[in-house]
Amino acid sequence: MDADTTDMTATDRSPNERFQHQALLTKFADRSATIVVVGLGYVGLPLAMELAEAGFTVVGYDVSTRVVDLINSGESHIQDVPSDTIARLVTSGKLSATTDESCMRRADAISIAVPTPLSKTRDPDMTYVLSAVDAVARQAHAGLLVVLESTTYPGTTRDLIVPRIEEAGLTVGVDVFVAFSPERVDPGNPVWHTKNTPKVVGGITAACTEVATALYSATIDTVVPVSTTECAELVKLLENTFRAVNIAMANEMSIVCDKLGVDVWEVIDAAATKPFGFMKFTPGPGIGGHCIPLDPHYLAWKMRTLNYKTRFIDLASEINSAMPDVVAGKVARALNDVRKAVNGSRVLVLGVAYKKNINDMRESPALDVIRLLEERGAEVVYHDPFIPSFREGDHFMEGVELTDAELQRADAVVIVTDHDGIDYQHVLDVADVVVDTRNATARTLPSHARLVALSAPRTAAAGV
Ligand SMILES: NC(=O)c1ccc[n+]([C@@H]2O[C@H](COP(=O)([O-])OP(=O)(O)OC[C@H]3O[C@@H](n4cnc5c(N)ncnc54)[C@H](O)[C@@H]3O)[C@@H](O)[C@H]2O)c1
Repeated sequence: MDADTTDMTATDRSPNERFQHQALLTKFADRSATIVVVGLGYVGLPLAMELAEAGFTVVGYDVSTRVVDLINSGESHIQDVPSDTIARLVTSGKLSATTDESCMRRADAISIAVPTPLSKTRDPDMTYVLSAVDAVARQAHAGLLVVLESTTYPGTTRDLIVPRIEEAGLTVGVDVFVAFSPERVDPGNPVWHTKNTPKVVGGITAACTEVATALYSATIDTVVPVSTTECAELVKLLENTFRAVNIAMANEMSIVCDKLGVDVWEVIDAAATKPFGFMKFTPGPGIGGHCIPLDPHYLAWKMRTLNYKTRFIDLASEINSAMPDVVAGKVARALNDVRKAVNGSRVLVLGVAYKKNINDMRESPALDVIRLLEERGAEVVYHDPFIPSFREGDHFMEGVELTDAELQRADAVVIVTDHDGIDYQHVLDVADVVVDTRNATARTLPSHARLVALSAPRTAAAGV
């Protein structure tokens, strides 16, 4: 970090910096700026919508022709974004989409929200970010703000973005402003959206932070500036590592409770009555989504390059990724109790999305549960009201309807995702064996099904 640069006041700045900086602040204040959002997925599309709603002209740039065509025809491919809002913004000319990177030539700001997956060896896969940044660098010009939103390891913005943009003959902090601002969108959350979730922003220089803060303040209710891009990058990793570690502890507590014959949900709910010093996390079949299972590994990888082992991250990952095996073991024991083998049994998996009420199954633990049961010879079918079918590698599955016939045909039903729309009482009334990994049956009445929970096996008679 160049302290001389970050500590500068407005009057210390060079005439060019002052000019570009002021020009952008004015365009963000009067909404005359054109913003390009790179990557129109779970993060990019809601952000593009909010910027367009705030009055900016927004162009979404995506490499997927399907996504671009959908947006331009007023259709949403993201559950939380209503098609009629897209259609209204497209019709008004505030929002459009393209696969042509030259749209960035006329941009005043570019926000990059492309995937940051892991490679097979669980190292950061930066190919999407690099390809997006190369496109940005080819189109970069003086008077531009570039913000990376993709979750990544600390140092990415400074080490990967700044040199590429400066190769185009531009000086960051003078001609072009570069910042990192982590996205915190929580798909399916009915309360917290892009607009009302505070947004952290850290720039390469103080002027970069100021320009990026000005853009987001025009559309997000609360903007939280921090002093560096590294700080902003770490904020996101701390948040998601915090979740991964605490979920792992709840998962381990479920194993502890199971061995002690105690109901883990009762323990957690009672502990959560403490008004201070405790935050509720719940166990389950494992973790999923594009964030919690992946993001901590970005930090672990970075720290390995500095010869430091992030033990909490490694341990949490080990515990969380073993949960599908725990669930498969529960199903095997539940079948055994009714004198059946997994091999040859029909198992109905209820819910394959990685969390309830959404249609995203990236990294879903349901995939591992299905694979583990199939490896043991089970015939696995699934029902998910949000996911009619899916393909995982060579494996294609089409969901079944949740009929009484399906419930009766199943030797065991395993609740992997606790979608709200499912009548769990009815499931218990009709099925023979139910394994509940989410406490979805907490408020059901005793029924004829044999009910097995993640901890402390309960029979139907123990239903509350
Ligand atoms: N999904 C979430 O809940 C969530 C929450 C917070 C942060 N994030 C982070 O945000 C980033 C984006 O995640 P997402 O869930 O929106 O991904 P996504 O897969 O839903 O969308 C990414 C989009 O980027 C497009 N794309 C890929 N490469 C491109 C390129 N070179 N140029 C232009 N477009 C390109 C894809 O076609 C796709 O439409 C990731 O770093 C993720 O970790 C995701």
